[in-house]
Amino acid sequence: LLVTFAMIVVAYLIGSISSAILICKFLRLPDPRTTGSKNPGATNVLRISNKLTAATVLFLDVLKGTIPVWGAYFLKVEPIYLGVIGVAACLGHMYPIFFGFKGGKAVATALGTLLPIGFTLGALLIVTWISVVKWSKYSSLGAIVTVAVAPVYVYFLKPLYVYPTIMLSVLIILRHRANIVRLIKGTESKISHKI
Ligand code: G3P
Repeated sequence: LLVTFAMIVVAYLIGSISSAILICKFLRLPDPRTTGSKNPGATNVLRISNKLTAATVLFLDVLKGTIPVWGAYFLKVEPIYLGVIGVAACLGHMYPIFFGFKGGKAVATALGTLLPIGFTLGALLIVTWISVVKWSKYSSLGAIVTVAVAPVYVYFLKPLYVYPTIMLSVLIILRHRANIVRLIKGTESKISHKI
C-alpha cells in the first residue's frame, strides 16, 4: 500500500511538469498561458509555434500519463489503484504544483493513462479524435467527443477501469467549459494545419 500511495504522489508530480510551458520557454516562444487560448497544451502550442513543437508537447504530455501507470503496473500495484494513479497524473497536469496550480486540460495525459489498457482502445480513441477534428477543425470538440465516448469503449474492452475513465471524462469536460461556450457562440478557433 505504501508503494501505491507513493505512485499516486509520483503520478501527480510527473503530471505537474508542464511540457508546453517548459518547451516554449526553452525555444524562447511566447508563454502558452498568456497567448492564444491561454492553455498550456499541444493545441495552443500549435497556434504559437509549428507542428513539430506541438507534436513534441503532445508526446511528452502523453508520456506523463503512460509512465506512472505503466510503472505502477510493473511494481504490481493492484489494478483498482492503477485508475487512481491515472487520475492523479491528469490532476497534476490540470493543477500543477510547480506552476501555481494553473495547468491544462489533460487530454493528452488522459490518453497516455489509457494507452496501457491496450492497443485497440488507444487506436479507437485516436481515430475518434482525428475524425472529429478532421471534420470540424476544432481540437476542443475532438477532445470533448473522445472523452465522452471513452467510458463506453472502456466498458466493452476493460470494464474494470470504467469508473476512473468516467472520472477523467467529467474532469476534462469541465475543463473545457470556456471552449464549450466558444463552440456554441461560434468563436472557437479552428486548427488551420492539416492533421
Ligand atoms: O487539448 C486541449 C484542447 O482540447 C483545447 O485546447 O487551446 O483550444 O483551449 P485550447
